[in-house]
Amino acid sequence: MLSPALRRFLPYLRPNRHLFVVTMVAASASLAAATATPLVVKAVIDGPIAHGQAGQLLPFAIALVVLGGVETGANFVRRNYSVLASLRMETDMRNDFYAHLQNLQVAFHDNWQSGQLLSRAVADIQTVRRFVGFGVVFAAFFGAQWALVLAVLLRLDWRLAVISGLLLLPLAFVSRRFFGRYATIARQVQDQQGDLTTVVEEMATGVRIIKAFGRNRLLLQRFQRQAATLRVTNLKGVRIRASTWTTFNLLISLNLCLVLLVGGLAVMAGQLTLGGLVAFMTYLIMLIWPLDALGWILAMGEEATTASIRLAEVFDSLPEITEPARAQVLTRVRGGIRLEGVGFRYPEGGNWVLRGLDLELQPGETIALVGATGSGKTTLATLVPRLYDVSEGRVMLDGVDVRDLSLRFLRKQIGVAFEDRPAPGGRRGQGRVRMGPALGPGDPRRRAGLLALGRPAPAPGPGQGRARRTASAGAGRPALGG
Ligand SMILES: Nc1ncnc2c1ncn2[C@@H]1O[C@H](COP(=O)(O)OP(=O)(O)OP(=O)(O)O)[C@@H](O)[C@H]1O
Ligand SMILES: [Mg+2]
Repeated sequence: MLSPALRRFLPYLRPNRHLFVVTMVAASASLAAATATPLVVKAVIDGPIAHGQAGQLLPFAIALVVLGGVETGANFVRRNYSVLASLRMETDMRNDFYAHLQNLQVAFHDNWQSGQLLSRAVADIQTVRRFVGFGVVFAAFFGAQWALVLAVLLRLDWRLAVISGLLLLPLAFVSRRFFGRYATIARQVQDQQGDLTTVVEEMATGVRIIKAFGRNRLLLQRFQRQAATLRVTNLKGVRIRASTWTTFNLLISLNLCLVLLVGGLAVMAGQLTLGGLVAFMTYLIMLIWPLDALGWILAMGEEATTASIRLAEVFDSLPEITEPARAQVLTRVRGGIRLEGVGFRYPEGGNWVLRGLDLELQPGETIALVGATGSGKTTLATLVPRLYDVSEGRVMLDGVDVRDLSLRFLRKQIGVAFEDRPAPGGRRGQGRVRMGPALGPGDPRRRAGLLALGRPAPAPGPGQGRARRTASAGAGRPALGG
């Protein structure tokens, strides 16, 4: 019942498998107690009640209390441990997701709306966890309950059991139809949630621009439109779930009516005891809750499958800018930067942004690059710390191609100042944010080249999610401004 997409996340359960073993043991105990209860009731009806022996009721009463106690206690343990195990799984998945996002090249983030990443990191991982923690455990539990109860029913009265079984068969058909229709909607809901998150995220990060240009209404309308779309899709899902569950319940009620009729006749004919009929009905009612829950688990499973497909889309994006096979580290960085025949175009862009560019910066040299908006100043700066890799030519630091250097080492040598976006924890209104250690004026590490790359570009419109405004770059830990 697990889709391949979901199965790939099963290894996350491995570290907590002992917790799942406890869960399953508790589930079995609760199941055994629940299944035994109607048999005790049957014995009470056919024994002391049928024969009017009030004095013999006590042992049965004690047995019922003990069974009830075992069921409650086992359910408590099952719930606690399954939640514990699945929450640990959620934490591990989220940590891996976050680490993976950080390893992906800047170009990946250019093409992904941050809201889509956020909704995956929060909602989708939670959906997978909920299904694994509750859905799978319940499905296993209910499956076992069904098998056990059907076995007991067959023993009680095989004709009634066959009738019930035949009447429950259409449920399989109903659930198959449900699967097909609900899958599409589940995916739409999750994608639209991502879009909505993007709108909120852009509003929150671009609030100054939005206020400055008086675009509040525009953004509000965009949010309302997105929210309305999500609502409509959600309602479609509700309608499908409601009609499926109604059909489920209708079939079950029909079944109960028929069993009462056929069973009643059997009791009158002396083929079945009264206690047997009561037990039979109790078992059928016991099957209702799992069937009810089946619809819910199926829906959950569909959502978890689409969530895991959405997560796989990110997990399957492999980092393109990676550590070289034989990464070099320079013992002493002087800070000379050389660009040789550099050409660059953005992965999805097509046009050359830079072409045939040669530039040499001596250690300690400072240059300013001036050019029209969109002429490629920022792009040039991003090539030095390998936020992007050149499309042709090469960038060298102290005579070594930056692609041969250890990525961690290289980026430690490069300081970057971003223009308009405060760094996490940065103060509001701070114009430039320098990340990296503070360097005193006399710090020898300051000697390296500083590329001051042009004037700041106009502020991006609220629609543009990420700032692409690295303005300057240099080596030997210069302060990079732009
Ligand atoms: N992430 C990106 N994906 C695709 N194209 C991009 C991306 N970032 C920039 N560009 C395009 O590359 C070209 C150079 O942009 P870049 O930001 O380097 O210019 P710039 O000289 O820094 O401009 P400004 O003075 O506005 O800061 C522009 O045509 C721009 O539209
Ligand atoms: Mg720029």
